[in-house]
Amino acid sequence: MHKRKPFEEKHLIAFSKNFDKSFLRHVESQYSLDNRIKKAMNYFIKTGGKRIRPFLINTLGGYLGISQKQLNDFSLAVECVHLHSLIHDDLPCMDNDDFRRGKLTVHKKFDEATAVLAGDMFQVLSVKTIVDSKFFSPDQKVKSIHMLSKANGLEGLIAGQSLDIYMKKKSTIKDIEVMYLLKTGALFSLCFNLLLNIKKMSLKKKKELQIIGDTIGKIFQVTDDMLDRWGDEKKVGKKINKDSQKASIAYKYNYKDCKEYLNKIQNKNYKALQNFFHANKEGFLYMSSLIDFIVRRVK
Ligand code: IPE
Ligand code: IPE
Ligand code: MG
Ligand code: MG
Ligand code: MG
Repeated sequence: MHKRKPFEEKHLIAFSKNFDKSFLRHVESQYSLDNRIKKAMNYFIKTGGKRIRPFLINTLGGYLGISQKQLNDFSLAVECVHLHSLIHDDLPCMDNDDFRRGKLTVHKKFDEATAVLAGDMFQVLSVKTIVDSKFFSPDQKVKSIHMLSKANGLEGLIAGQSLDIYMKKKSTIKDIEVMYLLKTGALFSLCFNLLLNIKKMSLKKKKELQIIGDTIGKIFQVTDDMLDRWGDEKKVGKKINKDSQKASIAYKYNYKDCKEYLNKIQNKNYKALQNFFHANKEGFLYMSSLIDFIVRRVK
């Protein structure tokens, strides 16, 4: 990893190229009695995606001295959960989107049944990745799968997606924040929590890491919602102005207030990063500039 300098987008691009190769190999290596679902999974992997969660796992894990092989399996598992959430999120019964990453969504490219099953399979593969891994002890596997299930389930993503769909536009900021923390924050926090299974850490550091995960999740979802209102559809790669009748910070606040709101969360994140990295100035510089990138992102 590039530890001495601030983050640059080209680091993420180079990382994702390698990650995607290993992701495709991983899916290919799964024994299968049906080709359709694998085809749909491969299609979706090939539509790209920023791979920001795997990048965070690798960046922070690198600073913690965790082995590349372990980081790779954690990254695959988390990205599988993420891809499951996107395929299902786009379905007609949910957000009903035809495009993602500038390409047809899985149910548009194939059909709804295939998309439901490919999404399911990404969920299954997430757990299977940890179970089959050669790089974790049985105890580490059980703890990791427990965390994964919690982040993905009714204490995390699935609860958040349900709240999102049924939440009224006039909901309070507090309600919206809870929904953000569940549907998006849980997976970001998971990226860091998984590392705690491998690396012992003081309670103080663990608490800072929790703040870092929660704030990145919020920052990420607020910027996603802002891109829905003010983004460039071509760059974003998905239909914009879709959230206007939904509970969304970007439709509660004007642009300036959204930026101010974001700024407050970023300050909190910045302080937690400072406390977490302490004397490691390089780590702090790299992570804080990565967060800057997330705030400035255009897709
Ligand atoms: C989109 O996530 C869904 C949200 C949680 C806002 P990403 O923006 O990480 O999606 P890809 O994988 O890069 O396309
Ligand atoms: C998605 O939120 C969060 C998920 C857990 C998939 P959105 O519905 O706003 O994500 P996009 O805009 O479709 O990527
Ligand atoms: Mg949605
Ligand atoms: Mg959506
Ligand atoms: Mg969105």
